[in-house]
Amino acid sequence: MNSLITKIKEQESPPKVIKNLFSENEIKEFLKLYHDLPITVHNKKQNVIKKRWLQGFNKNLEKIFNERLEKEIGSFKMDNLKDDEGRDILGLIQESYAPIGLHVDGGFELKNQIYKQTLIPLSSVGSTVIFKNRYYEGSTNFTQDPIELGKKDLKYGQNKRSDIHLKMYGNKSFDKKIHQKYLQHEDINNLKGLEVELIYKWEVGSMLIFDRTHLHCSSSVIEGKKIGIATFTKK
Ligand SMILES: [Fe+2]
Repeated sequence: MNSLITKIKEQESPPKVIKNLFSENEIKEFLKLYHDLPITVHNKKQNVIKKRWLQGFNKNLEKIFNERLEKEIGSFKMDNLKDDEGRDILGLIQESYAPIGLHVDGGFELKNQIYKQTLIPLSSVGSTVIFKNRYYEGSTNFTQDPIELGKKDLKYGQNKRSDIHLKMYGNKSFDKKIHQKYLQHEDINNLKGLEVELIYKWEVGSMLIFDRTHLHCSSSVIEGKKIGIATFTKK
């Protein structure tokens, strides 16, 4: 297991924003894809609609995405859940009205060499906060909420809940100004020891690429709703 973490670390690099990667027309196609796909989850509590990017709905977009990502990060495999027929799901499209809390998307198979994840915004107002801090034990929501922490009976594809982050990164209080401006949905005490690596301001046509080991969350800056596509790779 340790040699796997070493391999993961060897491939780590700073987050990268690629501007003007997708044309207006391609973004329109992504939005059409989003509307065409069936709803997977409608979580009323988090106020988020999730759809899986299933293969075959728009082959041209799949090709464009793969080619352009490979150009940026080299060879990769998609690391996703499978659909009912065992085919790879290419990503998750989320429409959210409320910011998503602190988590990591390390995946559900600890034997995988996780690599990069991407975020393609399909709406313009929003931002994503990437922390310097990293975690190597799979998809986890980091929270102090006792009800959340009590959730142990998780279904396929659901993140673990944990407060272990509060013991991992030291006791330094989180930056009050950044908290006030971007992270009002998070209890500042839940951010102890964390430091910001990058705040990505959503810009339609651009794409964010970052290591899957980074803790991250949405910022609290949302006007109405926002839509974004997340994809996850492994080596
Ligand atoms: Fe995420």
